[in-house]
Amino acid sequence: MPKKKISKETLSHSFHSKKFLSIQEAIKKGRGRVSLHGWCYRERGSKELRFLVLRDSSSIIQCVVEKGRVAEDVWRHAERVRIETSLELRGMLKKDTRAPTGYEVIVEDLQIIGTCENFPIQKDQSVEFLADNRHLWLRSRRMTAILKIRSTIFGAIHQYFRSHGFYEYQSPILQPTQSEGGSSVFTVPYFGDTLFLAQTWQLQAEPAIFSLERIYTLAPSFRAEKSKTSRHLTEYWHAEMEMAWSTFEDIQGHAEGVIKACVKEVLRQNKEELQILERDPKKLQPTVTKAFPRTTYTEMVERLQKKGMALSWGKDLRTEEEDALSEWYDTPVIVTRYPKEVKAFYMKEDPENPRVVLGFDVIAPEHYGEIVGASQREEDIHKLEENLRGYGEDPKNYGFYLDTRRYGSVPHGGFGLGVERLVSWICGLENIKDAIAFPRTVLRYRP
Ligand code: 4AD
Ligand code: MG
Repeated sequence: MPKKKISKETLSHSFHSKKFLSIQEAIKKGRGRVSLHGWCYRERGSKELRFLVLRDSSSIIQCVVEKGRVAEDVWRHAERVRIETSLELRGMLKKDTRAPTGYEVIVEDLQIIGTCENFPIQKDQSVEFLADNRHLWLRSRRMTAILKIRSTIFGAIHQYFRSHGFYEYQSPILQPTQSEGGSSVFTVPYFGDTLFLAQTWQLQAEPAIFSLERIYTLAPSFRAEKSKTSRHLTEYWHAEMEMAWSTFEDIQGHAEGVIKACVKEVLRQNKEELQILERDPKKLQPTVTKAFPRTTYTEMVERLQKKGMALSWGKDLRTEEEDALSEWYDTPVIVTRYPKEVKAFYMKEDPENPRVVLGFDVIAPEHYGEIVGASQREEDIHKLEENLRGYGEDPKNYGFYLDTRRYGSVPHGGFGLGVERLVSWICGLENIKDAIAFPRTVLRYRP
């Protein structure tokens, strides 16, 4: 069949109107007549003159309407513009160092597209109010900047794995078993049975490495932990990878690699957004240029004890201990070989020391806590069964998983990266809730 030719002209017309520049494009152009559309970000003025700051996804720009210089109906429209009114305008662009982004548009024509009632969000509103009005707060410059950085990070994760020979693969969200500990699993009634929301993709991901060898995903995970901390969501996005024939070092290398790739891309693409968030890029630079330190749990416990912290070998590191050790580094740090009792049933026992597992956490700098949880996977089916029983689980329910060890098992491992934890650290956020558009926590699940 002959291919139908689509001209460039047809394409651009059917996808967007060429008439309008983005504010950023207009600022780049620097002078001349421009048509813009967006929302009113701020407005003030007198009976003769109105200053409207226009906002779109790219930037903001000051637009001036002078009563004496525009048609009567244009002035009437300008008078009716309120904060968050959507509008189109045309005018002459010029440099103005007093304007917020250094340029100003002298308006010739203006039309209201969507009128706006009194916008509920004003200056100095409480965190709770902004959370209740999240659907409107997303328009703020702060949230826009965070969401752009988040988008860069999602892109960088896909790019990293795809360029390292990983296939994108999807596990089910509705799962027949739990995997990371029963206390943090959501149950779902399911036609007379009970299922669980995925805490991880892992148990249904491992079977797929026997087909694809290297796989990754970027998908929601769910945790029913009642933790009301600035690091816990009940629904979060999880970047996970699983790799056949891997060594423990390979998994550490990819965890370091993907974090570096994300930070590098944000530093390259999001200078302005970091500035809006008042995040100093210098704090992130070492992550790109330096190798992440690799240390062991045992070494960290000894160092923390020497520092006077009361902790004993065998207990998981708590928030305050992770925070204390992160102060020794200006990049994320890889902590390996945790005690077996504190980690999940699938982690491989260290052949050189059966008390610890070949698992690691990556701890972010600046008190952002654990961003990656990872391990080599236990290949010994009997150890897996024993571990499951130890956690009060019936190995029979894990038959599909244990089969992966029965039929041509290979050394393998993987990790899970909490994307909102990474976004929080990169953006320097106070609370993980701002790292996602509509956060879900124990107390916050609307709108
Ligand atoms: O350490 P976790 O529980 O590891 C796993 O789920 C493994 N199965 C991953 C794997 O090997 N494929 O979770 C991984 C990461 C944590 O390091 C953290 O960054 C994030 O997921 N995370 C959370 N993020 C936000 N809110 C929560 N409640 C989180 N729980 C875990
Ligand atoms: Mg963990």
